[in-house]
Amino acid sequence: MTQGRIVPSVLNANLARLGEDVTRLCEGGADAIQWDVMDGHFVPNLTFGAEVIKQCRDLTTIPYEAHLMITDGERWVEDYVKAGCETVIVHPEAIVHLHRCLEEIRRMGAKAGVALNPATPLEVIRHVMGSIDHLLVMTVNPGFGGQAYIQEMEGKVAEARAMIDATGRDIALEVDGGVTKDTIAGALKAGADHFVVGSALFRHPDGPAAAIAECRAAM
Ligand code: DX5
Repeated sequence: MTQGRIVPSVLNANLARLGEDVTRLCEGGADAIQWDVMDGHFVPNLTFGAEVIKQCRDLTTIPYEAHLMITDGERWVEDYVKAGCETVIVHPEAIVHLHRCLEEIRRMGAKAGVALNPATPLEVIRHVMGSIDHLLVMTVNPGFGGQAYIQEMEGKVAEARAMIDATGRDIALEVDGGVTKDTIAGALKAGADHFVVGSALFRHPDGPAAAIAECRAAM
């Protein structure tokens, strides 16, 4: 069985009992937690900010990653590093100075991540591969959980894998959106090694631990 990393998204958690759900995910075998930060502007949804993440930081020792689906994200990256996120992921579609932003995240001691919407070509990151520690290929259009996996993105994942391998560096290649026990094998075969899973965990009748185990077994 291949050891891909399962990264639950808390977007579809019970936000009235968020701390309990984060704890359940960690006890259920999560390798990291993804916090989907949305501002209702870059994406048509509004979620939580750095303070919520900070207050949940002490629930677990596993890594937190902040996926900033927000306009002008470079202004806010420091807040998410200070909230305890080991990785901060920004969208070049919403960042004016991507190279500077990535270097700033690293200067603050976190891993620098880039997320690409389905329509955004890998060409956008060709000249900043040396500043990237984590690449997130969206397999849905960002904003909501429970959407269908866009299988066409597997070709992009394969191209991203080739770009990463050419650097000789250990850059995480993550997919996010519609990842379930039925789609994870295709993403793995395409070259991904980190898998964000959201609604599939919370809608499983036996809870997140069973869903995580099924995803691992499917890889
Ligand atoms: C979209 C979000 C979702 C979430 C995962 O903006 O980023 O992809 O993390 O949700 P599911 O697994 O339900 O697609």
